Amino acid sequence: MSSGEKIKTTVSVIKADIGSLAGHHVVHPDTIAVASRVLAEAKMKGLLTDYYVTNVGDDLQLIMTHKRGVDDSEIHGLAWQAFKEATKVAKELGLYAAGQDLLSDAFSGNVRGLGPGVAEMEFYERPAEPIIVFMADKTEPGAFNLPMYRIFADPFNTAGLVIDPRLHDGFKFEVFDVYEGREVVFKAPEEIYDMLALIGTPGRFIVRRVRRKIDDEIAAVVSVERLSLIAGQYVGKDDPVAVVRTQSGFPAVGEVLEAFAHPHLVAGWMRGSHHGPLMPVGLRHAKMTRFDGPPRVVALGFNVKNGRLIGPADLFDDVAWDETRRLALMITDYMRRHGPFMPHRLGPDEMEYTTLPQVLEKIKNRFVETGERKAAPPKVKTDLLSHHD
Ligand code: F6R
Ligand code: MG
Ligand code: MG
Repeated sequence: MSSGEKIKTTVSVIKADIGSLAGHHVVHPDTIAVASRVLAEAKMKGLLTDYYVTNVGDDLQLIMTHKRGVDDSEIHGLAWQAFKEATKVAKELGLYAAGQDLLSDAFSGNVRGLGPGVAEMEFYERPAEPIIVFMADKTEPGAFNLPMYRIFADPFNTAGLVIDPRLHDGFKFEVFDVYEGREVVFKAPEEIYDMLALIGTPGRFIVRRVRRKIDDEIAAVVSVERLSLIAGQYVGKDDPVAVVRTQSGFPAVGEVLEAFAHPHLVAGWMRGSHHGPLMPVGLRHAKMTRFDGPPRVVALGFNVKNGRLIGPADLFDDVAWDETRRLALMITDYMRRHGPFMPHRLGPDEMEYTTLPQVLEKIKNRFVETGERKAAPPKVKTDLLSHHD
């Protein structure tokens, strides 16, 4: 969809947990203020076209527009500076886990791999360009797999896939394997069974981009950072962000939001080690208090006009989501009653960076051979795709 002289707009959502008030539940307003000041200065200098700073739970969210494209070193440097200055304030205030997500001091042009989560897309603005920025806390990037599938591949969610000729050809999903650092592209609807075989494992295979099939136009992008893999030890879940374009040739705002009407189970919650429902909330309820959760997602709607962010509309702050929330809270009670038992607690492969291996190590000499038949323990495959070998 090239349009001659027009310049593309880039939307960059970059987030980090740089410390929280009273545990890991909410960002302190002073850290939002200092990050806002850093971005305001960048807007005055012309580096940013516009910005909006907010938080969801303990994650500080920088929503920025500019003309520099994705993975731009100046934009990433700016986000890094905002997080650094906010961390300074977090430390002065003695906030909890100050600087948690800034894993390295070695910034060299890109925040990817250093801790912050990043979702960026670049496009020629349509005359009206409505987007939704999704921000979740106490869960992982794969939490968006199910809603992305519903939005762009499920006609029971998105009526437009059937009845709007512009959506009828379907979408392409880029699925990223976070363990192997490789990706595969699936076409929907024709390859949905193959795709579901992978993205049903959301801890590993993550839908990180969706494009419209007919013209390759970007439709959605999801952050794919996995802190535990970056740091080599558990340092918190990755609390993903996503940007979705909507309307006239993309799913409608209501179709995109509809994918969150079912509070599906996601990994994260307390100590990043539990399954719980993803509860859609408005910003005023974006604080993780019950068992450090339950995991929540906020949706902010903007119109992008010449790079300006018009809005936001706090889309889940509406009575239409009350029953979803009520169900999520019922599921919260139900799951909590399992205490330390799976499937509330995550499976052993996801508990790698907790005390579980240490407990096994500690008691290993207390096991006695009984002479009974041995069964091979279930193996965690590092290469799912070569399971025929
Ligand atoms: C989950 C999260 C929290 C902490 C928990 C323990 O992503 O951030 O649930 O894991 O509050 O925190 P520490 O170990 O810092 O006391
Ligand atoms: Mg935290
Ligand atoms: Mg968080």
